[in-house]
Amino acid sequence: MKKNVLLFFLLILWCSSCREAPNFNTPNKNAKLTGTIASKAMVVSAHPRASEVGVRIMQEGGNAIDAAVATMFALAVNYPRAGNIGGGGFMVYRTGEGAVTTLDFREKAPAKAHRDLYLDSAKNVIPRLSIDGHLAVGVPGTVDGLVRMHERYGSMPFADLVAPAIKMAEASAFVSEDELNHYNEHQDEFVKFSTRPPPLYKKGGWSASDSIRQTDLAQTLRYIAERGRAGFYEGPVADSIVAEMERGDGIISHQDLKNYQSQWREPIRGQVRNFTIYSMGPPSSGGIALLQLLEMLEPYPINKWGGYHDFKTVHHIIEAERRVYADRATHLGDPDFYEVPIAGLLDSVYLRDRMKDFDEAQASRTKYIKAGNPKGAVSVSTNKGTVESEETTHLSIVDAAGNAVSITTTLNGNYGSKVFVGGAGFLLNNEMDDFSAKPGVPNMFGLVGNEANAIQPGKRMLSSMTPTIIEKDGLLFMVIGTPGGSTIITSVLQSFINVTAYDMSMQEAINAKRFHHQWKPDTVYMEKGAFDELTQEKLSKMGHHLVERGPIGRVDAILVRENGNLEGGADIRGDDAALGF
Ligand code: DON
Repeated sequence: MKKNVLLFFLLILWCSSCREAPNFNTPNKNAKLTGTIASKAMVVSAHPRASEVGVRIMQEGGNAIDAAVATMFALAVNYPRAGNIGGGGFMVYRTGEGAVTTLDFREKAPAKAHRDLYLDSAKNVIPRLSIDGHLAVGVPGTVDGLVRMHERYGSMPFADLVAPAIKMAEASAFVSEDELNHYNEHQDEFVKFSTRPPPLYKKGGWSASDSIRQTDLAQTLRYIAERGRAGFYEGPVADSIVAEMERGDGIISHQDLKNYQSQWREPIRGQVRNFTIYSMGPPSSGGIALLQLLEMLEPYPINKWGGYHDFKTVHHIIEAERRVYADRATHLGDPDFYEVPIAGLLDSVYLRDRMKDFDEAQASRTKYIKAGNPKGAVSVSTNKGTVESEETTHLSIVDAAGNAVSITTTLNGNYGSKVFVGGAGFLLNNEMDDFSAKPGVPNMFGLVGNEANAIQPGKRMLSSMTPTIIEKDGLLFMVIGTPGGSTIITSVLQSFINVTAYDMSMQEAINAKRFHHQWKPDTVYMEKGAFDELTQEKLSKMGHHLVERGPIGRVDAILVRENGNLEGGADIRGDDAALGF
């Protein structure tokens, strides 16, 4: 045990020093700032304790899926604002031999949900009803997803993968300053929306010397370890969820829980030069939007126009984004309920055509940009919004056999609905807000939607999560993803471009400042320092409305370097950790 603790701290030290200093083993011509370098296996996640668990599982002989399952449970304990068992997500998996599949464990609308669930009698959206409290909760998919991925690809006993999380929930764990601050920011909401004393609540708030035990959560995890899927969707945990719903006027029933099934789906696949991109298809918009952006930008030599984030490059990227998010709002939804014109949206002639009205010298106006009309489309229409809190979490894993896992998972907003399941110790999502509550009315990420993403019982809400695996010349090249709500897609895009067009290391690509446009509102969001003054001036003159905001995305990724080593890039915007061996 002591040895493990020591190893953990050594790994952390090693990791953080790698992030500060150039690594002289780099195969690239110029010494560069790199992330963690390892020769065999790597885990990058939002929390050091979770990454450490994943690495240990692989050192004990587990594969990438085993590590992913264990890391996910560890995140549910150590990173409760997004790590979860009460939410959902998506996995893209590539075996060492190159077979790629995806698992959709996205939440579903409960059977009692209906199109007008969040509207008043005058058909207006009731503010925050889909964001806070019991009615905001979708039927959780994470536990079913973890059981399914393990069933198909795992090698170690499932219970052994839950065990580290149980131990951590039972132990008195110190939390990072960042986490403490977040807990403290949400104390009132935890109390307001939970019907029993919430485990992350402390009278007077948390301080740096406090440690936290989560005994109810440990018991819930024990049920899951012993009974797998049934340990969550049936029995005492399911009873607690339904009792919580009844106390808080929620609508999830025993039947909803029993019926929940995650879904294996074909990946979205695209070729850009010698890169093959595998990403998540509907009900996530991520894969389609990422490929649309890459295909729209492909004809332009964006890295040849002056320096990094040259105004002309930025202008092209923004204009592609504007058009892609217009398509997203109209054509994307749960494919089990809505015919998504996937082939039409990815057709290169269609995509080149989308850029036809693009003006080299001037910003387009969002009000004049509509969704396109790709082959197979059902309908067309449009609207505005603002950007709110963005917490989700991503993990990237590669094992010694070259199996690669890319998982993005979420409760949606910070701490989801802020509803803790009484007696069971975990938070429930507020994923229902990802549906379009009413055509054209923005959700908390400012995203608008229509028929394709209208609420229906059993339907999955549209996502932006973009877990992605990329090959170069047929070989594993990058495992990548990020949180960030609507900014997920554009953060993955920029990190990929930074490596492939600007020859950055994975860590440099992640550190680089980001920007984002999502059609509506007609605003370019930028991190502080994303553009120099001259670039800002030029972009403004072209008609772009620039707004500085806080961090965009938290990319956790792995790059296979030219010499075959793995470079884990952990985002410096959070406590994220890349650990490998
Ligand atoms: O699925 C989605 O697109 C959103 N529920 C993701 C939410 C998110 O990324 C929040 N923050 N980082």
